[in-house]
Amino acid sequence: MRGKGFGKEKRRTDMRREREIFRRFQEETGNRRPYRNAIVRMRKSVPTRVRVKALRQAGLNVFLYPAARVDGCDLLSDSGTGAMTTAQWAELIEGDESYGSNEGYFLLREQLVRTFGEAWRQKDPRRPNLFIFHQGRAAEHALFTIIGKTGNNLIIPSNGHFDTTGANIEANAITAVNLFSKELKQRRDHPFKGDMDVGRLRTLLSEKKQKKQIPLVFLTITNNTGGGQPVSMANIRQVSRISHRNDIPLFFDACRFAENAYFIKQRERGYAKKSIPAIVREMFSHVDGFTVSWKKDGLSNMGGSIVLRPGGLFMKRYPELLEQITDHQILTEGHPTYGGLTGRDLKALARGIATITDEGYLAHRVGQVARFGERLQRAGVPVLTPFGGHAVYLDMNRFFEGTGLAREDYPGIAFTALLLGSYGHRLCELGDFAFGREKDGKQEFPEVNYVRAAIPRLVYEDQDLAACADAIISLYRRREKIPGVVVTYGRDKTLRHFKAQFRLRT
Ligand code: F0G
Repeated sequence: MRGKGFGKEKRRTDMRREREIFRRFQEETGNRRPYRNAIVRMRKSVPTRVRVKALRQAGLNVFLYPAARVDGCDLLSDSGTGAMTTAQWAELIEGDESYGSNEGYFLLREQLVRTFGEAWRQKDPRRPNLFIFHQGRAAEHALFTIIGKTGNNLIIPSNGHFDTTGANIEANAITAVNLFSKELKQRRDHPFKGDMDVGRLRTLLSEKKQKKQIPLVFLTITNNTGGGQPVSMANIRQVSRISHRNDIPLFFDACRFAENAYFIKQRERGYAKKSIPAIVREMFSHVDGFTVSWKKDGLSNMGGSIVLRPGGLFMKRYPELLEQITDHQILTEGHPTYGGLTGRDLKALARGIATITDEGYLAHRVGQVARFGERLQRAGVPVLTPFGGHAVYLDMNRFFEGTGLAREDYPGIAFTALLLGSYGHRLCELGDFAFGREKDGKQEFPEVNYVRAAIPRLVYEDQDLAACADAIISLYRRREKIPGVVVTYGRDKTLRHFKAQFRLRT
């Protein structure tokens, strides 16, 4: 259930207003980038035959293809692939590598309070609320290993668990449930397709027994598995109210929190005049903790954390778990004041978090993703709209409609291989192959079948992305000629997309 103002007419007005805000931003800034280059990486052009040979050696698996031979856009992931600012590089020099309580740890703690609000300040040193890990999934691993020991038949619902989150939950015999919004499954535009389906959350909770079985509710902002789509403040508020009424803590998977806040400002009634930092603080006032990979909106190349709100429901409901998380962290990562990171990483990270909520930066970032997507859309390439904050998702089922290829031919894999071999741009299949699986010799397919173009932060200019879009368009126009692939290795493996080998069907 949504409040009023999300009807068809309102939606149209929202999208029109968003386009207007973009136009005004471009006028005001003279379409300037909110940064200029201070260091650049020179590119070496790679001849097609060299790319094709390297791709064959990698068994057409784009993950196994050497990055040095990607001479177009590397859009495999936006995770840890961003360029740092000069202020962050300066922090690396200033890094303090003391074993206990290094300077970066305190800077990071202070920055978290500044960014997420005073409520996140922990005054009691006996009850730490920041647990540092080397990346997001290590934080998830710690949290779910410990939560998994609190009961049997546990369930953790989300608006869309990311694959490592879902995998870490299930590895601890907990059931990961995805309550995707109805709008996500439909083709029409909606401003907040990343929302959780609260009707289904209520149904899940209405069975009395289930309440005890739900240790946490999760909201992934933005919803990566659901196409990088944002979650509205109304949905955050509602999920928070429902969870808390049932005495269940609410967590964010906060990887792309700043991009989500920008969408709220653009699209949600009542937020146009609020600053991004104010919106971020409001978002985080509704949750009891969060897991995060700082490789996204931390503007860092490595890092992750579990952060708990002092006095929040998680700390109240599971006081005994804090020590267990600390112990897990010491056993697997290092002293809690550095986790799996160097002291200089922590200082650079604190700077990154301070920069990411800059509205000029976010307008450019989200605008760049949209401009890339619009170029594809204008040429008729089937893409998920509205565009998400970090990536454009190509819908492979519609892309190959009418070509006679079967899903078992994995045309999405063939498309990514041809785009890389022929044009030097690297995208990644997140669909029938990555999320499908083989069971008793039969293939099971996921609900969505995408190839994702994830845009690294502060790395590419529009000109680079236009070249990549044109290569995609060119392949789309010749899609009848794209063959499927034969899986020559790894069809039945877990996480098979990282390991498998293919050859083009002849
Ligand atoms: N949660 C979300 C929503 C993510 O997108 C990711 C990573 C993680 C957790 C795990 O973080 O990589 O630091 O361990 N997403 C990357 C991607 C890998 O390409 O979307 P990590």
